[in-house]
Amino acid sequence: MTNNLVTVAYIAASALFILSLGGLSNQESARRGNLYGIAGMAIAFVATALSPQVTAYGTLIAVIVPGAIIGSIVAARVAMTSMPELVAILHSFVGLAAVLVGVASYLKPESSLVGAEATIHQLEIYLGVFIGAVTFTGSIIAFGKLRGSISSKPLLLPARHLLNIAMLVACIGLGVQFMGTADGLQPLLMMTAIACVLGVHLVMAIGGADMPVVISMLNSYSGWAAAAAGFMLSNDLLIITGALVGSSGAILSYIMCKAMNRSFISVILGGFGEGTNASAAKGEQQPSGKATATNVEETAELLSNASSVIIVPGYGMAVAQAQHAVSDITKILRDRGIQVRFGIHPVAGRMPGHMNVLLAEAKVPYDIVLEMDEINEDFSETDVVLVIGANDTVNPSALEDPDSPIAGMPVMEVWKANTVVVMKRSLASGYAGVDNPLFYKDNTLMLFGDAKQNVSSILSKLSELMSAGSSVTKEKELAKV
Ligand code: TAP
Repeated sequence: MTNNLVTVAYIAASALFILSLGGLSNQESARRGNLYGIAGMAIAFVATALSPQVTAYGTLIAVIVPGAIIGSIVAARVAMTSMPELVAILHSFVGLAAVLVGVASYLKPESSLVGAEATIHQLEIYLGVFIGAVTFTGSIIAFGKLRGSISSKPLLLPARHLLNIAMLVACIGLGVQFMGTADGLQPLLMMTAIACVLGVHLVMAIGGADMPVVISMLNSYSGWAAAAAGFMLSNDLLIITGALVGSSGAILSYIMCKAMNRSFISVILGGFGEGTNASAAKGEQQPSGKATATNVEETAELLSNASSVIIVPGYGMAVAQAQHAVSDITKILRDRGIQVRFGIHPVAGRMPGHMNVLLAEAKVPYDIVLEMDEINEDFSETDVVLVIGANDTVNPSALEDPDSPIAGMPVMEVWKANTVVVMKRSLASGYAGVDNPLFYKDNTLMLFGDAKQNVSSILSKLSELMSAGSSVTKEKELAKV
């Protein structure tokens, strides 16, 4: 393939990536967005493999074939609930790739570069390796935290901010040394080691509740690392793709910080989500009162007698895989003329859009699935709210208790409805480790147990109630005749 043809293919791939991002911005077009992305990546891959610069086909095949097989198996097997872990580990690969590309291009510099161009190239290498190393180790720690192999509690070393600043200053100092010498391998490798420690320390200091932002932030870093690798390799497509990933990750981080009412800087500096003990030590109010338990029969009665119902799902619905039974309940209630809508918190579950994906998979119509801002004002006019496996996202202490670790985070104001039924297995706290006063409110009923079992039992009970209701109606109609 000639260089001109490669350029044309790269332009086409870049356009497809942009169309892909546009498609992914809403549910109806998301499938199309994915197809654009796949097509763009296929074009990029073939064009790069056939470009004149690539000659070592043996090596290429030896790495691509096993890589493609492992990738396909892992992606096919991954459960929806483990998707963030997979994303985190994939980010670490991008980081590692940027480090390796950087070191390799330093060891085998392009001889055509002189003067300012050579200096800029050196700077690209240094920055690329730095971002790549932070992304690499930070993503591995994020993977461990999401998987539960590393505690999700923040690691708060004494003088941790000073430690971070010291590491940053050391990297800048080594950078000056690197730029000023012909043999800069030693400062480059020393900086790589320090940046790896910085990546570990930065993410270790971030608590469980901030992990979603960290994932999207690392996503953004991995994009910038890829863009830096693109500059090192003079590959325009890698620069464009890296910039798209870097900026969309940064925008997503910003949106998520807004949804949690947290400043981006406070998330990066860490320390949030220390758990219940830490919050108690801070003097945070502990919920008081008695939780009222209910059962499947009472919940089914409440639903069948309601005229408006809002379902608020959370991580528990995903773990229990209750979405299909929830979809069936929705259908039965809607067929009976009851208004049913879903309220989705921006960080419900364990990744952005987690609930939307599950509900779409279970064929819940898109138009009744509403974002928090679209539905939060309607709770006060709603008969029954069914909270299924959600906890932090429906915690009133975020609004009512200024000492709560989640104070200020916008939440679904479910307690304003006539009756709230909370379905979970216990009164335990959620991901952020914060107690939830919702469970003790007068209008809250707790339906304990596994979400799938309970939702399926409610479904059977509702079907019974509906068929009994329809035979009573038929009898009445016959009596009239
Ligand atoms: P959580 O606050 O994590 O609460 C989920 C609840 O589901 C748990 O309290 C648990 O209570 C219950 N549960 C677990 N398994 C269940 C099952 N089989 N059946 C019934 N209930 C079950 O979830 P949320 O309200 O969706 O909030 C999300 C939290 O995760 C936020 O803190 C958010 O910051 C964080 N987070 C979000 C993301 C993204 S991007 N969405 C990523 C990572 C972390 P029991 O143990 O009592 O059953």
